[in-house]
Amino acid sequence: MVAARQDFLDAGHYAPLMDAMSQTVRLLTPPTGTVLDAGTGTGAYLHRVVEKTSYESIGLDISKFALRKAARLNPNTLNLVWDVWRPLPVAANSVDTVMVVFAPRNPAEFARILVPGGHLVVVVPTAAHLAEVAAAAGLLNHQENKHQALIDSLATHFTITESTMVEFAMPLTPGQVSQLALMGPAGHHERSAETTKALAELAPETAVTASFEICVFMQIH
Ligand SMILES: C[S@@+](CC[C@H](N)C(=O)[O-])C[C@H]1O[C@@H](n2cnc3c(N)ncnc32)[C@H](O)[C@@H]1O
Repeated sequence: MVAARQDFLDAGHYAPLMDAMSQTVRLLTPPTGTVLDAGTGTGAYLHRVVEKTSYESIGLDISKFALRKAARLNPNTLNLVWDVWRPLPVAANSVDTVMVVFAPRNPAEFARILVPGGHLVVVVPTAAHLAEVAAAAGLLNHQENKHQALIDSLATHFTITESTMVEFAMPLTPGQVSQLALMGPAGHHERSAETTKALAELAPETAVTASFEICVFMQIH
């Protein structure tokens, strides 16, 4: 999963999302502020945020394989193998922006570590994301109304202040669709015979919709 994710991101397929995400985080974070990336993975999104800035940064991920790559990409970031469901190894009121890109969220801990007036920025896929190839790639079904589910899951500590849709088309080969399948939660499961067959039947290139929402939250006081 880690290798598939890195190859896919390195190929630039999600560049518009990375640009929009880093712009959002930079607008919310003071010039010498601190950014924490929960579930940083290979560190690609955090890299876009911190490059050519004076930010302090922390990347947390439960996978040491992912984090090893993140540490190489972001040598000035404090990269820690950590389960975000546990209390975070970060002082209260010390982080200006917490970012979470397709990774688990611990609202109580995020609220504790954020400075007053700090923000939580979350990227989630919309129902339209990868719709053209979801079946062929054997991707797990998207939950209906992810937007409201996200707001509800954070409601004890956060309120939404802004939400931006980022949608673009990606021309993908069957090999790249296969990579997408590997880098998501479906990558944990053995590939079914139907998925293998559906992948083999894909056109040499498919225009696949990438569709996300970048949601900004503030703490409830
Ligand atoms: C879909 S990947 C996203 C990685 C990265 N944010 C990106 O978009 O490239 C989800 C990441 O969350 C990490 N993760 C899953 N459960 C976690 C947990 N309980 N604590 C910390 N990280 C976790 C995984 O190891 C994985 O790197």
